[in-house]
Amino acid sequence: MIRIGVLASGGGTNLQAIIDACERGDIDGSVVIVISDKADAYSLVRARKRGIEAVSIPPEGTGREEHEKLVDATLQKARVDLVVLAGYMRILTPWFINRYLGRMMNIHPALLPSFGGKGMYGEHVHRAVIEYGCKLSGCTVHFVVPEVDGGPIIIQESVPVLEEDTPDSLASRIHPLEHKLYPKAIALFASGKLKIEGRRVRIID
Ligand code: GRF
Repeated sequence: MIRIGVLASGGGTNLQAIIDACERGDIDGSVVIVISDKADAYSLVRARKRGIEAVSIPPEGTGREEHEKLVDATLQKARVDLVVLAGYMRILTPWFINRYLGRMMNIHPALLPSFGGKGMYGEHVHRAVIEYGCKLSGCTVHFVVPEVDGGPIIIQESVPVLEEDTPDSLASRIHPLEHKLYPKAIALFASGKLKIEGRRVRIID
């Protein structure tokens, strides 16, 4: 049974899918803490509704490193085995990332390594995919390394990009896919089935 800490800045639909999957027993683990950099994030409400500790750590008034130290101390106190980034809108420093190497995941709403990196988040991703003329997009769950969106890929799934797609319509087709894919990746981690070999993640049967 692993202890999961989730960092989320926004609405937290992925967080919800992960909590639900833990409660159903699809993941051999439980979300023990949710941390947000936004005091009014709905993800904190979702956590509290399920009796999960929810902490807001706003960055205002602290330096970047000081803020991360607070987040780190909170995760340590909760004794987390895995850190899950679920719409966390801050770029983490190598110091923080290196502390959780191989045990921190992120989900990106496109097929990496395309349409990732700095500035590629939310609507920007879907707009870039459509403008490029891609016929496929999707989502990617990956381990987090200091290079933004550059970590070893755990799982990906694709959806077609339709002629009439807008960034919104494409996002609304990808979002439900994320809700299936993220719990799946976490379940694999929780059951010890992920082995990182350089850039590749082997899924052990
Ligand atoms: C998702 O689209 C995810 O891919 C990205 O941030 C968004 C978070 O959405 N990293 P939600 O808050 O889980 O609904």
